[in-house]
Amino acid sequence: MNSPKTPSAEPILVTGGAGYIGSHVVRDLDAKGYFPVVLDDLSSGHAEAMLCGELVRGDAGDTERVGALIRARGIRRVLHFAAFIQVEESVAEPLKYYENNSFNCLRLLKACLASGVKSFIFSSSAAVYGIPGTIPVAETAPLLPINPYGASKLVSEMLLRDAAASRPGFRYVALRYFNAAGADRLARLGQDYRKPTHLLTRALKTALGRFPCLEVFGDDYPTADGTAVRDYIHVDDLSSAHLKALEYLENGGESRAFNCGYGVGHSVLDVVAAAKRVTGIDFPVVHAARRPGDPAALVADPGLIRRELGWAPPVPALDEIVASAWKWEQKLAARKN
Ligand code: UFG
Repeated sequence: MNSPKTPSAEPILVTGGAGYIGSHVVRDLDAKGYFPVVLDDLSSGHAEAMLCGELVRGDAGDTERVGALIRARGIRRVLHFAAFIQVEESVAEPLKYYENNSFNCLRLLKACLASGVKSFIFSSSAAVYGIPGTIPVAETAPLLPINPYGASKLVSEMLLRDAAASRPGFRYVALRYFNAAGADRLARLGQDYRKPTHLLTRALKTALGRFPCLEVFGDDYPTADGTAVRDYIHVDDLSSAHLKALEYLENGGESRAFNCGYGVGHSVLDVVAAAKRVTGIDFPVVHAARRPGDPAALVADPGLIRRELGWAPPVPALDEIVASAWKWEQKLAARKN
């Protein structure tokens, strides 16, 4: 795939850049003047999701091949998105998660350290906190994941921490994502998983008739309405945090982890109500048992990322996030019909 950028634009390696969050970041890296070299095995990403840059099809855990790619292109900066992301699946198939998320991160890191990479941005997750003792949760909270997905991300954070401590020229930022949601505001990009499991996507696809009903997993949590609370962050804002993190490392910022959320919680029923308002469709909803591995509430304390990275986008209304996802879902449905 060709990019309008000149060959002199700085190459930057983006693993998983054809995926949901990665593709939005690739769009923004290109706009910032980088040349994204996307390494993606297309197991969940899509080549069409790359609006720019170059796609190299392959495995981020192939140390030799990735090292050769980094050296051949003179790459100094890496963003690592490629990972499995479903909490429930990680409970059923934990080794699959440790292998792809932790071991492949280790193998990628070996390639980076051996090839002169200076900056590394890692897609971590709020799942590293497990069941936080206080909400909102700050970066200083205990890291006690309650599912293999969160544990696999925490192992990667530890690998990064120790690798960076051993190499003064190598620094990283781990962004602990809360719940990425929504789609590119021009509806060119969005979530397109082969087996969608995320709440908002399931709700909108139910509105479109793709599923008979939306299941609400658990209504007996210790929250205001009994359903689980999350900090839903617009994917465009999540993307801009990566650009800020690169800038921070550029300016000599030290290696560390940052929460990436607004600090605003919405329950499952809030999301369902917003989806009904935005679509104008009163889709069927049923109550079901709690989903294994789900904490009751996960809401970010965004103080650190605001102070250190200057990342403080205006917080969009939930309906705005839902509306962007709805535009995308309708486009996707039209394309697939
Ligand atoms: N939920 C439902 N019905 C559904 C889907 C989800 O009730 O059909 C509920 C879940 O049980 C949970 C909430 O909606 O309580 C949010 O679930 P998602 O699957 O949308 O997202 P998760 O909170 O499980 O996980 C997401 C990402 C992780 C990330 C985490 C951080 O998938 O990668 O957010 O908060 F780590």
